[in-house]
Amino acid sequence: ARKIILDCDPGHDDAVAILLALGSEKIDLLGITTIGGNQTLHKVTYNALAVLEEVKERTIPVAAGCASPLVRELEVAASVHGDTGLDGVDLPKPSRTVIDKHAVDFIIDTIMEHEPGTITLVPTGPLTNIAMAVRKEPMIVERVKEVVLMGGGVHVGNWSAVAEFNIKVDPEAAHVVFHAPWQVTMVGLDLTHQALCTPARQRDIESIGTPTAKFVSQLMDFFRKAYAQNQGFVDPPVHDPCTVAYLIDPNVMTVRKAPIDVETHGDLTLGMTVADLRAPAPADCHTQYAEKLDVDRFWQLIHESIENIGEG
Ligand code: BDR
Ligand code: CA
Repeated sequence: ARKIILDCDPGHDDAVAILLALGSEKIDLLGITTIGGNQTLHKVTYNALAVLEEVKERTIPVAAGCASPLVRELEVAASVHGDTGLDGVDLPKPSRTVIDKHAVDFIIDTIMEHEPGTITLVPTGPLTNIAMAVRKEPMIVERVKEVVLMGGGVHVGNWSAVAEFNIKVDPEAAHVVFHAPWQVTMVGLDLTHQALCTPARQRDIESIGTPTAKFVSQLMDFFRKAYAQNQGFVDPPVHDPCTVAYLIDPNVMTVRKAPIDVETHGDLTLGMTVADLRAPAPADCHTQYAEKLDVDRFWQLIHESIENIGEG
């Protein structure tokens, strides 16, 4: 199984990413780290613990990370995720709390304690924790297997005309992460906007008939309304689990190598991920982006994980 650390800000789609990882035997979830993003650090950390409680998962370590971006003020996504960050569901009260270690140290120590080339980082929120970890212990860059992140997009946006939320919230951190010479797979909006939770997909999940299936369906009800009201979508794009799906089955999407950089200055383009598509990627190119999703396979993986979690 692939050993991963999920760095997230739950968040409706982050919650689905957590469940997808938990329910797959192909994924060994070593820990969940949290980052201020969709809501404040306090709220998203509570949500991460509560989602684990919902499925009675009480052993995987949860470490709280940075409350705000490297340089800028935190901008939350209440319009998409509500005041709690996970509006629309009744969360159980967590029976445990975070570990006594900062997320940045948890990330560094986990990578350094494992064999080189065995840990995959999966960020699905702003990249502040990951950038901090790179700066604090640069040796992690050559030790991780790869970074598979949800963020950015090839010249599409959702938090501005050309910038995606996770990158726009902390562009300086994203700059650090895209410039470090590790393998980065950017699962951006061009891919995740294909992962739409249509009513038919939602009914298929409901048909599993477990409390976890119902929980996911309730998350999607809220997400559908929020995306309809604020982003002009009929069905909500379920961004974050696309990263985990790629690690379970790389055939779930096609990827293309290209140099990718992050705009940290532009008036109109702040937080844009700029991919250079003028020529075939150079041999030493260490960045790639996800292009085409196998939609049926994606929802099959989600279905299987929820089924595997069973009664929770
Ligand atoms: C990203 O922003 C957040 O609101 C979602 O959880 C996802 O990680 C999509 O732009
Ligand atoms: Ca997220």
